[in-house]
Amino acid sequence: RNEETGLPLKRETFSTSLTVFFATLGSAVGLGNIWKFPYMTGMNGGGAFILVYLLFVLLLGIPIMLSEFYLGRKTRSNAVGVFDKLKAHRFWKIIGYMGLLSALLIMFFYSTVAGWVYAYVFRALKGDFRFLKNLGLEEARAASEGIFTDTLTGVSPMIWQAVAVLVVAVILIGGVKKGIERVTKTLMPVLLLLIIISAVRALTLPGAGQGLAFLMKADFSALTGSSILAAMGLAFFKLSLGMGTMVTYGSYFNKDNNLMGTSFKVAFSDVAVSMLAGLAIFPVVFTFNLAPEGGPGLLFQTIPLVFSMLPFGNVLLTAFFVLTAIASTTAMLSMVEVPIAILTEELKMKRRLAVILTTSLMFLVGVLTTHPDAVFGTVEVAGKNLFDLFDYLSSNLLLPLGGLLITLFVAYFTKKESIREELTNGGEIGNGKFVDALLFVLKYITPVLLIIVFLNALGILSL
Ligand code: PFF
Repeated sequence: RNEETGLPLKRETFSTSLTVFFATLGSAVGLGNIWKFPYMTGMNGGGAFILVYLLFVLLLGIPIMLSEFYLGRKTRSNAVGVFDKLKAHRFWKIIGYMGLLSALLIMFFYSTVAGWVYAYVFRALKGDFRFLKNLGLEEARAASEGIFTDTLTGVSPMIWQAVAVLVVAVILIGGVKKGIERVTKTLMPVLLLLIIISAVRALTLPGAGQGLAFLMKADFSALTGSSILAAMGLAFFKLSLGMGTMVTYGSYFNKDNNLMGTSFKVAFSDVAVSMLAGLAIFPVVFTFNLAPEGGPGLLFQTIPLVFSMLPFGNVLLTAFFVLTAIASTTAMLSMVEVPIAILTEELKMKRRLAVILTTSLMFLVGVLTTHPDAVFGTVEVAGKNLFDLFDYLSSNLLLPLGGLLITLFVAYFTKKESIREELTNGGEIGNGKFVDALLFVLKYITPVLLIIVFLNALGILSL
């Protein structure tokens, strides 16, 4: 141990570039792809929303992800400590503290939805959805909606949320290698396989054509300032950006990892998983006459319907919700790691204690964000239920703001040579040209775009 800091001399890292990829993809892929992306696409009119989203992934997502990787691996530090290591002005630490706040806000409502997913795994195992196949389309749809409402009512969502949080706590106590790495490298490949199977099945339903058309049609008239802001928020949320998650994970990357390669692979695979989720869900929506703009319940109401009609439907249904549970768990690992790294390194807290404190808070506040029919579901602040409030504040405000500050810090307050050194691994990989292009985007495009979207959403500037 280092005498001054009391920390282990050698900070843990992931073992190989493949495990870096799976852990980072594990952070990106989550409820964002399977639950949020489809319902937001549904609510914002389909294809045009997706195009805008893709643009944000390219011009904001990848540059900011690289900035975060750079900060993390260069300093091998948590989201707050980074700025001390770089001897930056105290002001910049606000990025770390804002990140901490975003991590907490997201954890609260994310664990609620993860709880619903765990509840669905259990229900599928019990065979609660089997009877759907004996019903006509209309009755099946109503029954599926009924099961969803029932899942959100009473004490049961609290219990499932507790289970979801507990799983995260147990894995995180294991640390970076024995916890995060071991779980993500085993489960991410399973997840990728299961989502492909689900999409292929949905594409053979009668509503497949309509579902595809909905995803592909680019009706730009449906886009408003707030839907553009939502697309930007989704890009941040999806790629776990703007809150120091990728700084923290980057600080665990091995030194020969190609940061650029990792960022492209993660962003590309993440988009692919979202599209697959869209392909699995929208054909069902149109086959069963569900409303595409159905909101947060969309996933839970559609997927049981698609599988109920199949041979081995119940096995596939269970597998799908297991997949979603895996995705939500690996994403939660990364958001909870943000406070844990800060607590253990800045406050020298023991890892186990940091995990217990953070996950307890996650549960205690998280439980207040459940659906209105649940025990604590009616808690409101400023006339908004906490679920929507936390979601809105984090995705549409804190993450983009954090992203803006990170961009400005890296583009204008760090030495170009230091960035070049880190992104080319000290000259070992020939990414030189790319570094120039990246710096150009970081300086002139990313911040301007962010500010325009904000002003547009505030109604100050119209696009
Ligand atoms: N990227 C995750 C998802 O799309 O489900 C959510 C997320 C994970 C957001 C980690 C933020 C974070 F730090």
